Formats: sequence, C-alpha cells, structure tokens
Amino acid sequence: MAKEINLGILGLGTVGTGVAKVLLEEGDLLTKRTGMRFRLKSAADLDWNRDRGVDFAGVHTTTDVNEVLNDPEIEIIVETIGGYEPAFTYIMQALANHKHVVTANKALIATKGTELFLQAKKNGVDLLFEASVGGGIPIIKSLREGLIANKFLSLYGIINGTSNYILTKMHQDEVDFGQALREAQMKGFAEADSTLDVSGGDAAHKLTILASLAAGAMVDFDSIPVEGITSITTLDVDFAKRFGYVIKLLAICRFFGTELDLRVHPTLIPKEHLLAAVNNELNAVFVTGNYVGDTMFYGPGAGQCPTASAIISDIVDLSKDLLLKNGERFSNRTVNPEEKATLLPLDKISNRFYLRMFTLDKPGILSCIAGVLGNHGISISSVIQLETHGQKDVVPIVLLTHKAPEKAMDNALTEIAAFDFVRSDILRLRLF
Ligand SMILES: NC(=O)c1ccc[n+]([C@@H]2O[C@H](COP(=O)([O-])OP(=O)(O)OC[C@H]3O[C@@H](n4cnc5c(N)ncnc54)[C@H](OP(=O)(O)O)[C@@H]3O)[C@@H](O)[C@H]2O)c1
Repeated sequence: MAKEINLGILGLGTVGTGVAKVLLEEGDLLTKRTGMRFRLKSAADLDWNRDRGVDFAGVHTTTDVNEVLNDPEIEIIVETIGGYEPAFTYIMQALANHKHVVTANKALIATKGTELFLQAKKNGVDLLFEASVGGGIPIIKSLREGLIANKFLSLYGIINGTSNYILTKMHQDEVDFGQALREAQMKGFAEADSTLDVSGGDAAHKLTILASLAAGAMVDFDSIPVEGITSITTLDVDFAKRFGYVIKLLAICRFFGTELDLRVHPTLIPKEHLLAAVNNELNAVFVTGNYVGDTMFYGPGAGQCPTASAIISDIVDLSKDLLLKNGERFSNRTVNPEEKATLLPLDKISNRFYLRMFTLDKPGILSCIAGVLGNHGISISSVIQLETHGQKDVVPIVLLTHKAPEKAMDNALTEIAAFDFVRSDILRLRLF
C-alpha cells in the first residue's frame, strides 16, 4: 500500500494553481516514481469564483487558511501567497503546528530566513524553497546535494528574467529601455510594477539565498550592494558591443577565504562567455566548485509550470523524509541559521570598469580625464569618443579601465564629475 501524504496549499494564484494542477493531474506518475500517493486535501485562497482551468473535485476549497494550517491530517503545506504578510505569519504558524512547508517566496526567505529556519528547527520540521531561485532550475538542490563535496569559489547568476528580457531586446532589437520594458509587460515577462526587477532587488533576494547556501551561513540581504538596469541606454549597449561585450544584470558571489564579495549590478560580459548567451527571460547560474570546476545551470526562471515543477520536487523530498521518519533533514544542515556570513565591503574590491559620460567637444579633455584616473592609479585599456551624438558641442566618451580598487574609482569619479566640461552624470559599470 503506497503511503498517502496529505497536502495543503495557501494561495491559488499563478504558482499555487500550477502546483495543484500537477498534483491533481500527474498523481499516477508521481506514485510510480516515488511509491507514495500525494493527496491535495485542502486549498485556501481569497477568491474561488475565477476559473483556474483545474478541476478541484475532491479538494476542500476554502477562503479560511486556518482550515489548512490547523488540519491535523495535513503534513506538508505549500505557501504560494507571496509577499511578507500574511505569508510570514502563516508559515510560522504552519511550522509551529509541526508541518513541513514548501515556499517559492524569495523575498521572505531572503529577509526573514533566520527566523523561519529557526522556527522549523525548533519544531523538528523543514522549510524548503527550491522554487525561490531560478524557477524550474534545480539550483538549490544542486548546491545543497549534487555539489556537496565542493568548496564554492564563485557563483554568477542571471536570475531576474524581466531584466534579462529587457537587456536582450536592447541588444538584439536596438530598442530603448522603456520600449523593451513595455514589450516585456505585454508578453507577461514583467509585472505592471516591475520596480523590484529592474532595480536589482529581486536578483538580490535570490543572491542572498544562493550565497547563504554556498557559504553555509546566513547572508544579510541589506548588506548587498545593488544597482539596477534603469541607467543603461542604447548607447551603452552599442559601446559594449563595439568592445566585444554584452550587458547583463549579474548577481555575483565570490569567496575570498571566509569573506564573501556579494554584488548585484549590470555587468559587461565577454560575448564568448556562456553567460552572454543566456537571453530573453531565461535564467542561468554559473557555479565554480573546487572539485567540480565550472558548471552552469540554465533554464526557465519563472512561470507557472517551471515553478510548480520545483515545488513538487520539494514536496517529494519532504514526503520521503516523512516516510523514513527523517524529519528536520535540511533545517540544521547546509546552512546554520544562527551563523552570519561575513561580507567583504565593496571598497575593498577591485574591478575593471566601463565609464560613460558626455563632455564638451574640445581638445585636451581626454588627457585631463586620463590624468585624474592616473593620479588614482587607474589605467585605461580602451577609449571611444564619438564625433557627434545629436547634441551640439557635446559628445559621449567611453573608457574601459584595467583592474582598479572601487575606492580609487570613487575618488577619481568625484574629481572628474567636478570638471565643468563634464555635461552628464558619469555611468560606471563593471566588467566580468
Ligand atoms: N509567478 C512566477 O512565475 C513565480 C516564480 C517564482 C517564484 N514565485 C513566487 O511565488 C509566490 C506566488 O507568486 P504568484 O505569481 O503565484 O502570485 P499570485 O498569482 O499573485 O498568487 C497569489 C495568490 O494568493 C492569494 N492570496 C492573497 N492573500 C491571501 C490570503 N490572505 N489567503 C489566501 N490566499 C491569498 C491571491 O488571491 P487574490 O488574487 O484573490 O488576491 C492569489 O490567488 C510569490 O512568492 C512569488 O515571488 C512566482
């Protein structure tokens, strides 16, 4: 007799409905593969009037989450409401009721992870979150299990589909940021309010989760330097191409002994690198471990079915633990919720830089800029100055530098910005 696992879902929107669909329509396949039966016992959402394209016959549907949270038969609860509250309170309550929880809620795991994991540990249950990063890509299981032998050296992620779609369109179709964003919204790859995506905040949530797993200690989300893609223009895309690069919003995690260099910002990636070929709404995480070497995980970073696929994987993992009475398998391993990861401050890091500014079109300006950079120990590797760019007497200048400390670049840019021949903000991007 196959063991039956009773499940409940909180929030039947895009993702929750996808999870219900797989559980209700692929039950036989899952049983064949796992030897267990997965019964969606209850589902809670505020609105049961809309058609979700799923037959909920046999499922207790309710608007009262307490009927799921307090049902003694339900052993695993899937939280797909999203946001901070009431999702946080519901997960804490589910864990307190000794139920395993699966969530796709990256914002919550990134900012409230410590409290949530400690609550899971205290109650002898687990909280899994495969769907919180990279949608359908099994990156969390890979970091936690497949690559367990490795010390991680670095991890680079294109982990925000909206930004990647916008930048891809800017590169391929030569449209500006606004037009690419509107297209992304029309095609459903961007929310009506895409602030969190284009500001880099969503990628930083996901980086917090990946870096915590790679470091084995909790990363403080608020300490990660974050820059979004809203300052990137078609001119920058064009210059990047001329230099042999593509611009991507990159989440970066590099290990320097016990310290981590964590950042999210637009980055010029050499066009030959695998990450440069990750286009449109797709995601990828490039992981280097000391034993495995370079690996890349690639696939759909969001969407109903890919995200549901990841959630089902967590459900099956937890169900195996229930079957083997092996609860708390994850909650006190891999990441210690009581240990904090140490971050390297940005001003201790060196990078290669891309600088773009508009200046008056007169002789001697380039040598003036080069002089200031040189005074701060920064040497230039390439320069392009266009003859005209639509504005009378003002031209764009773009420079690539060799590696230089962030602090030195800060100081140099403050000096350069003070020259009266500089007629715009100076855009500073970093090279891969
Ligand atoms: N969409 C994706 O591709 C994707 C990918 C990866 C991760 N995620 C994450 O997955 C989670 C869910 O995202 P989603 O896109 O599925 O969101 P969604 O479509 O907005 O679904 C959320 C659902 O929860 C319901 N809800 C809100 N408050 C509730 C409450 N108090 N009690 C019960 N139900 C409530 C909403 O009902 P109403 O609509 O009636 O308010 C809605 O049906 C988020 O954490 C998101 O970050 C999403």
